[in-house]
Amino acid sequence: MTPDEQKQAAADAALEHVEQGMRLGLGTGSTAAKFVDGLGKKVAAGLNVVCVATSEATHTQAAGLGIPLTTLDETPELDLTVDGADELDDNLSLIKGGGGALLREKIVATSSQRMIVIADASKHVATLGRFPLPVEVIPFGQEATRRKIKSAVTACGCEGGITLRMHDGDAFVTDNGNFIYDCALGRIEEPETLARFLSSTAGVADHGLFIRTADIALIGTPEGLRTIKVDKWHE
Ligand code: 5RP
Repeated sequence: MTPDEQKQAAADAALEHVEQGMRLGLGTGSTAAKFVDGLGKKVAAGLNVVCVATSEATHTQAAGLGIPLTTLDETPELDLTVDGADELDDNLSLIKGGGGALLREKIVATSSQRMIVIADASKHVATLGRFPLPVEVIPFGQEATRRKIKSAVTACGCEGGITLRMHDGDAFVTDNGNFIYDCALGRIEEPETLARFLSSTAGVADHGLFIRTADIALIGTPEGLRTIKVDKWHE
């Protein structure tokens, strides 16, 4: 299977977890978009669900497919979120935010009873960190925040460049009006510790480490579908 077929296989497998009447969180990115496409077909065929999108892009896609949409204010508790990832390890710790939607993705995923990650095989790694870790910061004091992020990653034994994400010559702006620093750390030996440090850094809106958030990963591989399940409440 090509990477694109692997993403499709993962998205199709996730659709099998969707049941009538569910409240769903819809992820962002090319893999999540395949899930949303499939969901649109099921809705057209009579499936009754209500969904919260994790980005303006996903909202537009879902609305175009006639998928019923709500907000977390109207529907604060969801049954299931299905989303992609930039990296995932065997514990289902994730790096997300390559598409810049990490803040809403985390709010939606942590408002869901379950989160299913869908990915192609290239996303499954032994140690997180090859993909630069996105950290969303509020624009006020962004350089001061960058220095605090640097201190936090150093304190966690990581090092590497921390660069402001750019788009067409300007700082990339998230759906929330924030900026993103991408932290090229190479290896993150203790993701949970780094997540805690970054979460307590003033100016950081959120970071792309998702710890104890996902329950199941459905990974398309050249050999077929691979499933990883964890008990996210384990010690
Ligand atoms: C967006 C994300 C995406 O889930 C992640 O970037 C994976 O995207 P893709 O499925 O296109 O590889 O976190 O913020």
